[in-house]
Amino acid sequence: MDQSKEKFAQLQELIDSHKNLPGALMPVLQGAQGIFGCVSEDVQKVIAEGLGVTLAEVYGVATFYAQFSLHPKGKYLISVCLGTACYVKGSQSVLDKLAEVLEIPVGGTTPDGKFTLEATRCLGACGLAPVMMINGEVYGRLTPDAIPGIIEKYRAKD
Ligand code: FES
Repeated sequence: MDQSKEKFAQLQELIDSHKNLPGALMPVLQGAQGIFGCVSEDVQKVIAEGLGVTLAEVYGVATFYAQFSLHPKGKYLISVCLGTACYVKGSQSVLDKLAEVLEIPVGGTTPDGKFTLEATRCLGACGLAPVMMINGEVYGRLTPDAIPGIIEKYRAKD
């Protein structure tokens, strides 16, 4: 069985075990997010059919809560802080440079699935402003000029 079939089989089991319970949609969506890493349209369709609710209802809940993402995230999640301390020290220009180097908009993922670019609130490292985090690793006192070299390092990794 390939990986995605296996994941859909897991989702079906989850749906079956919640089917007749009230308020099943939320735990099923949470489970689906855990299985797939996101709740894509295909996943939403299976959930809607399985639970006997409309796709609009599933979509409504999936887009309302920030914990659900509708698109798969890249292997490396780049979060640039736009909190006040970072913003006044130029984090917007760092974010713009990342968008330029990666050729994706903020919120986007590169076509090879390697990078997702996000803006975020204070990361709690204001003393190092402007700050970004790549999969939990903190980069501080950034300038736009530093960005190509950092991205190159990650491009060279698997
Ligand atoms: S404002 Fe950016 S880390 Fe706090």
